[in-house]
Amino acid sequence: MIRINENYTKLTASYLFADIAKRVSAYAAAHPEHKVIRLGIGDVTEPLPPVCVEALHAASDEMAQRASFKGYGPEQGYAFLREAVAEHDYAARGCHIAADEIFISDGAKCDCGNIQEIFATDIRLAIPDPVYPVYIDTNVMAGRTGPNADGRYEGVCYLESTPANGYVPAVPSAPADLVYLCFPNNPTGAVATRAQLAAWVAYAKRHQAVLLFDSAYEAFIRDPAIPHSIYEIEGARDVAIEFRSFSKTAGFTGTRCAYTVVPKTVMAWDRSGKPHPLHALWNRRQTTKFNGVAYPIQKAAAAIYTGAGKEQTRALTDFYLGNARLIREAMGRLGLACVGGDNAPYIWINTGQDSWKFFDLLLERAQVVCTPGAGFGRCGEGHARISAFNSRENVVEALERIARALR
Ligand code: MLT
Repeated sequence: MIRINENYTKLTASYLFADIAKRVSAYAAAHPEHKVIRLGIGDVTEPLPPVCVEALHAASDEMAQRASFKGYGPEQGYAFLREAVAEHDYAARGCHIAADEIFISDGAKCDCGNIQEIFATDIRLAIPDPVYPVYIDTNVMAGRTGPNADGRYEGVCYLESTPANGYVPAVPSAPADLVYLCFPNNPTGAVATRAQLAAWVAYAKRHQAVLLFDSAYEAFIRDPAIPHSIYEIEGARDVAIEFRSFSKTAGFTGTRCAYTVVPKTVMAWDRSGKPHPLHALWNRRQTTKFNGVAYPIQKAAAAIYTGAGKEQTRALTDFYLGNARLIREAMGRLGLACVGGDNAPYIWINTGQDSWKFFDLLLERAQVVCTPGAGFGRCGEGHARISAFNSRENVVEALERIARALR
């Protein structure tokens, strides 16, 4: 008799954003007269930068000619993109990351979800609360946790982000082996200072742990004192893996391109105490299970690193940050405390009420979709996330409707 992976039965019934999409579709079907404005899932609305579109066209033409046609590419990504990333995202910020330490992929979500495969199942996890659900759910699926009781999986060290700590959790006193961090944070939009990140690097060194640093939203950082990469912190090359994405930086949520940095110096140990470079394990995993990102998509991603590409992507992130500013100001006028939105595209609102009730209220009275904080974990209760990813027109209209609904 075929049996299931019973770890799946520990999960909540559906993935957070799938659950919200279902509720919103049901509402929209029941109320076709209303236009629903989606500020829930962080999905971009503005078209690809022109440099990316030009690169896509040119690469498609190459694929149409025998002489320039390409079949399978390298599983790790084409050298032209890995080299551009190493130069512009790392060397330019003083980080020593070699091109062959960069693995191009089809999404930070996939990489954040898949990376746990290269670690033992009986390691100790430290996971933020609230959290991007992929980090916790994929570990539940892999059997690294006990059952869920009261919104918490047994055996996980939760790093609580609360109003009291400014939504940036401190290093715990207990040791953990694998630590998930995300800055600028999803869902709170909070950013970590150099000192806070240095404390995590020191923690990882002390406990022979690995940090998984998700910096998918670094392009939204405007405060020059805030690090964009964990590798800006001394010693991080020995203990950290970093995830980046072109999704929000350049409008690639539908186009799919991202990368993961695994420095050759990051180690994990086997049962006998022998160290193994994680670079070799991730390379083994990717070459076995992944066939690379389409050539035209990688060409489009590489175009971002040209002079025009940098200007166009900056204009794109500036545009969404303009939305974020409007959202923050509107929440302030409503007397709702919030964080995020200044160096991140998410605004985390302290609603002071049940977060699903707040979600229903916005949907029913304003026809605006937000993400209920409780969907990101127990510490998200009482909060809601509003995403700045939408057209200016829709954001302005959504804010007017929210103001009317909450007055
Ligand atoms: C979010 O809304 O948190 C993100 O768009 C989800 C994702 O990037 O997978």
